[in-house]
Amino acid sequence: MIIASNFKTNHNRKSTKEFIEYIDAQNYFSEIRIFPPFTALSSFDLPPNIKVGVQDFYPVQNGSFTGEIGFEQLEEFDVNTVLVGHSERRHILGESQKVIVDKYNYAKQKECEIIYCVGEPKEVREQGIEAVMAYIWEQFDGIDIDYDELIVAYEPVWAIGTGLSASKDDIKEVLEHLRVKVKAPLLYGGSVKVETTQEILSIENCDGVLVGTASWKVENFSKMVEIADNKKEEK
Ligand code: PGA
Repeated sequence: MIIASNFKTNHNRKSTKEFIEYIDAQNYFSEIRIFPPFTALSSFDLPPNIKVGVQDFYPVQNGSFTGEIGFEQLEEFDVNTVLVGHSERRHILGESQKVIVDKYNYAKQKECEIIYCVGEPKEVREQGIEAVMAYIWEQFDGIDIDYDELIVAYEPVWAIGTGLSASKDDIKEVLEHLRVKVKAPLLYGGSVKVETTQEILSIENCDGVLVGTASWKVENFSKMVEIADNKKEEK
């Protein structure tokens, strides 16, 4: 099971360090991913199942791209896990599929683990599962789905940060369709809460969760990882 926390524009250097140290001290065995803001990156000394990644990057080693962060800066902190295609970058920051593919290919060339996010907006969801899958497959245009270090996160746009999670049946249906072509681990994201983690992790083909809002309090994130650890023991 993979339990990932996307801090988005939350936490600072000090609170990130405290968060990571708290999680590290619990000795969990699930796969844990934490995506703090760039400014909170540091050389954390962590076991192999806990990785600190980045929410974004500019697909270059270095150069003249004012305000951007390239791999020269990430390599200083041994970052090798990245988010690509998050809905907030697609819809709020206006990243096109071309930009996303450039980032994907660059991270792939760097042999990074990539959590690639896909998901449909509300008006597409209202048209039914065929429209949803057509929309999602378009988000795979130019993406190598056979990349060894790929993890796919299904995150319906209308469920992100809204407190309105997709239903168990909706998640199950999309993951089932994805599983036909995608061999990579599949995560669900979109208003996951401590109380819904158990149920979501029990869905067929669901290999974990990518959590924003509900994960920012370390006690909550910790409970989610504990649920994943317990599930692993059950199997
Ligand atoms: P949320 O965010 O849990 O706040 O809905 C999920 C995400 O954006 O990955």
